[in-house]
Amino acid sequence: HKFPVVVPAAGVGKRMQADRPKQYLHLHGKTLLEHTLHALHAHPRIGQIYLALHPQDPYFGHLPIADADWLTRVDGGLERADSVLAGLNQIMDADWVLVHDAARPCLRHQDIDALLSLADGQHGGILACPVRDSMKRGNGAGLVATSVCRDDLWHALTPQFFPLPALREALQHALTEGHTITDEASAMELASHPVALVEGSPDNIKITHPQDLALAELYLTERSKDFL
Ligand code: CTP
Ligand code: MG
Repeated sequence: HKFPVVVPAAGVGKRMQADRPKQYLHLHGKTLLEHTLHALHAHPRIGQIYLALHPQDPYFGHLPIADADWLTRVDGGLERADSVLAGLNQIMDADWVLVHDAARPCLRHQDIDALLSLADGQHGGILACPVRDSMKRGNGAGLVATSVCRDDLWHALTPQFFPLPALREALQHALTEGHTITDEASAMELASHPVALVEGSPDNIKITHPQDLALAELYLTERSKDFL
């Protein structure tokens, strides 16, 4: 059985400082968004992809995948959580749903497999990887206030995978209450749902700053060698 995915791709990519939203920058002759969508669509247990785009997006319609029947286009919103909720609200019949950032093109199928195995259990969860560096909390004035113990500290990645009705309700509630929601897990935590940590590959990076693009290109080159 297949699972639907919501892909938020309605951001403007301010931190990337490019001439267009980062999901439309090119890597190996394809846009970042196409790499991400193909990585998802090529997985046998991934079903319909609900793609949240900026309502005035001038780029998507020119891509070869613009009319693919495995894609459903929805209008995104002001914040990432609004875009995700817009996607969730288009899904009629599903028990579980994935959410994956458009800006993470290096997703591996083995990570999707690991995450989807949560569907056999009681609660959802997220891909995450353990923090490697020593962690410090600053005092707001350029000095270390304290060291933060690194044990059991994780980077939260995507995809994130939850029962659809619970996620929809948790996101809706968190937005109504005015909470800052940076990922689906934070909304589920606020609603007191357990969230499983599933260890994923550290190369599943989010393209955020200009230098991230070269790193993603390197990872994707390595990946294409695996298929030779
Ligand atoms: N996103 C979205 N709708 C928004 C804001 C973000 O769908 N209103 C999407 C982005 O397109 C991206 C993902 O959420 O795929 C993660 O967000 P982020 O990395 O912050 O992307 P941007 O918001 O575009 O970048 P920035 O914060 O630097 O402007
Ligand atoms: Mg953003």
